Formats: sequence, C-alpha cells, structure tokens
Amino acid sequence: MTQPVPLIAGNWKMNGLAAAMDEARAVAAGLGATPARVAICPPATLVERLARALAGGAVLVGGQDCHPKASGAFTGDVAAEMLADAGASLVIVGHSERRAGYGETDAVVADKARAALRAGLEPIVCVGETLAEREGGRALAVVSEQARGSLPAKLAGRDFCVAYEPVWAIGTGLTPTTPQIEEVHTAIRAVLVEMFGETGRRAPILYGGSVKPANAAEILHAAEVGGALVGGASLKAEDFLGIIRGV
Ligand code: 13P
Repeated sequence: MTQPVPLIAGNWKMNGLAAAMDEARAVAAGLGATPARVAICPPATLVERLARALAGGAVLVGGQDCHPKASGAFTGDVAAEMLADAGASLVIVGHSERRAGYGETDAVVADKARAALRAGLEPIVCVGETLAEREGGRALAVVSEQARGSLPAKLAGRDFCVAYEPVWAIGTGLTPTTPQIEEVHTAIRAVLVEMFGETGRRAPILYGGSVKPANAAEILHAAEVGGALVGGASLKAEDFLGIIRGV
C-alpha cells in the first residue's frame, strides 16, 4: 500500500486535443512541493502521449474508463491492460456519466475495478446520488449501496480510491455543504472499513463536483476527504494548480 496521501485527480472527460498537453505540462512545471499525489485523466487518445510527456515527473496519468475484459471483440472499448501499456497508472471506473449514459450497474463497475487491479492500475471507483435521491432523504443509503456493490473483495490489500461525486453537483457550480460532504464520506468510510478492514481505513475518499480554487481548501480539509476528482477546473493549469494548493 502507498501512504494515504491525498490525491488530486483531473478528469478531462471528452475534452482535449494535442494542444491541451500544454496545460498538463504547465501543471507539472508549476506543481512545486505538494503533499498531494496529482493525476490527469485525459481522453484515451492522449493517454500515451501525455504519459510520455510527463514521464519522470510527479504527475500521474489515468484513464477515464476501462472494459472488464483484457481483449476481445468489443469495438470502441479500451482494456485496462491497454491503458497500463500506454503509461497510465490509474483509471476512473463507474463515473456517473458512464452509469447514466451507458447503463453501467454496480456489478459492471465492480468488474471494471477488478480489471483495473488485474492490469496493475489503481481504480478510482465513483459513487454519488442524484438530486431526487438526495431530496428524498436517500443520499446515504444510495451511496452506501453503490459502494458495497461497486467495490470488489479483491480490493483488500490493494491501492484504490473511492470518489464521492453527487450527480447534482457535477458541472453545475453547486456543491454540498461541508457537513453534507462529511456525512457522506463518513458513511463511505464505514462501508470501506466493514468491507476491507485496515485497507478500508487507508483508502482515500475523494470529493468531486464543482471543485474550484475558491472552494478547494475548505472541501479538502473536511473530515474524511482524501482528495478531489476535478472536472472542468482541471482543464486549465492555473485552476488545477489552485486546487492542488488547497491541500
Ligand atoms: P466538475 O468538476 O466539472 O463539476 O466535474 C466533476 C466530475 O465529474 C469529475 O469526475
């Protein structure tokens, strides 16, 4: 296991042509001394080029999704082994945009997390409630159930993160209050400890959803918050660095 240091991961989603690599280089150049691990998850087309450009530096490269299988007739998909081969060391699985847009169930997400481990990648397993679920008073139950269903037993003793991303906070500029974040992260921690014992105590729980330089420090210092998964604000080096400085 690595030390439980905070992880700040940028999820570029479906953004980034070759020119965007300059932003990643600027992140690497501007990082300075930080207690955090820092990762950028570009679109699959840029994983190899970015990994080469950032090789030897402190910024890690990750994928945004992977197929459960190592190879086969799955047109358009990318295997975890391919991401590792391209130089990635992490992979996001179960992002709400995959769950909602591609019907990914907890069982599929767990399969993808297993694939990540098989390929030697550290999975970042995402969970998060919709606005209707929160307003219905079901946020804790939904997130706990997603965590139980999406985290395979094989994670015991391995490096992994969970990312709590409330669906209603993604790309909206809305964020939960700090007590709301702490309440959910504490519930996720309880599930992790119940499932994985010591490993579950150490796995970072990232917060994601409208993290910006202006709110990063407060969120990152909240109880049980072990980092951030950043969408829009990770596309500009200056903003991403501002968030990293909040650790
Ligand atoms: P935003 O930071 O753009 O809200 O996106 C969060 C996210 O979905 C990261 O995976």
